[in-house]
Amino acid sequence: MNRMETVRIGIIGGGLMGRELAAVCGRWLHLVDHPVRPEVVAVADLSEDARNWFKQVSTVRTITADWHDLINDSDIDALYIAVPHDLHAEIYLAAAAAGKDFLGEKPFGIDLAAATAIVDAVERSSAFVRVSSELPFYPGAQRCYEIAQSGALGDLVDVRSGFSHSSDLDRTKAINWKRQQATCGEIGVMGDLGMHVAHVPLRLGWAPSDVYALLDNIVTERPSPTGPTTCDTWDNALLAMRTPGGAGRDFTMLWETRRIAPGQMNTWYFEALGMDAGVRFSTRTPATYHRFAVNAGKQVWEEVQPGNISSWPVISGAIFEFGFADALLQMWASYLAERAGALGDRFGTATPQEALTAHRIFEAALQSAQARTAITL
Ligand SMILES: NC(=O)c1ccc[n+]([C@@H]2O[C@H](COP(=O)([O-])OP(=O)(O)OC[C@H]3O[C@@H](n4cnc5c(N)ncnc54)[C@H](O)[C@@H]3O)[C@@H](O)[C@H]2O)c1
Repeated sequence: MNRMETVRIGIIGGGLMGRELAAVCGRWLHLVDHPVRPEVVAVADLSEDARNWFKQVSTVRTITADWHDLINDSDIDALYIAVPHDLHAEIYLAAAAAGKDFLGEKPFGIDLAAATAIVDAVERSSAFVRVSSELPFYPGAQRCYEIAQSGALGDLVDVRSGFSHSSDLDRTKAINWKRQQATCGEIGVMGDLGMHVAHVPLRLGWAPSDVYALLDNIVTERPSPTGPTTCDTWDNALLAMRTPGGAGRDFTMLWETRRIAPGQMNTWYFEALGMDAGVRFSTRTPATYHRFAVNAGKQVWEEVQPGNISSWPVISGAIFEFGFADALLQMWASYLAERAGALGDRFGTATPQEALTAHRIFEAALQSAQARTAITL
């Protein structure tokens, strides 16, 4: 029987992602026997338009321009913090200092120094904190993760994890905070897409020892209301990494993050190949994953339809198809179940330590690109 204890959530940053959470809460009844029910009760955003959008959310009782109001509100149980990267440190540190639970958006600090300070503060605090990364919750990705985790792949040969979209292919697209170092960070696209790519490999314990990076800033200027403006972030990043695989052997791992990937709308993928088996999943073909095995001496790739079998069970039938909004619902189900001590052995939301490890890798990638050599972590 579902107990459905209410968790009152405050959103700091009611933009693209803040609104997604309000929608996730609106369809919480999709989940079967989840221990809690989240309600968005407050929102803080500097933008009046963003604040006004939340007037249609019936559970919201506080709408403010000042995020401190939410940190100080004892009637809020947990925060979702989804603001530009240059604000992560200040707000995450304040939340941790207040002992407020939160799900923080990636990259969890604008750079390695900010991430280190945040993770230190979180570890000193009583707050339950996780980092946003929803794409591994696709059923096909979950099955690939489970197969890889079981050890069935044998000695690892090669791992590839990537996120490619083409939202910046249009040179006339206006500049925004995600396209400028001051607000997005020097790591550029790695800050935007890197945590998505890092989550599954790091959860599997695949942390690289050496990084060689190729970084590309393709569009260096974009329109703004005041005329052409410098667009100084890395658009694309390709990281080739030596990764310890046990027994004194290393395997190759490639992380690819691209805002300009001609031909790709919004493709997240994960592939791991070992001597005994392999797995491959892409959100481009979300209803299937692929499994490789050597069968009677023949190399066989099987296409498997995992069905709508998600990490947390849902009322929707197993034959229905899973999408981005379902991945977000599953991530929130995971965060709030783990917070309630009810996650069990289900897949967990990314941790602050995983975000910090990702930042160390991205910092090494910056050094590598500058020195045109591999960097040892
Ligand atoms: N998990 C994902 O799939 C995903 C997707 C996109 C963005 N993100 C991350 O989410 C975060 C926010 O990105 P977004 O796309 O929602 O951006 P956005 O620009 O759409 O929204 C950010 C909001 O923060 C508000 N804001 C700015 N300064 C503020 C302040 N001082 N106090 C309160 N509000 C303030 C802005 O007015 C805006 O409404 C970033 O960390 C980004 O990397 C995650």
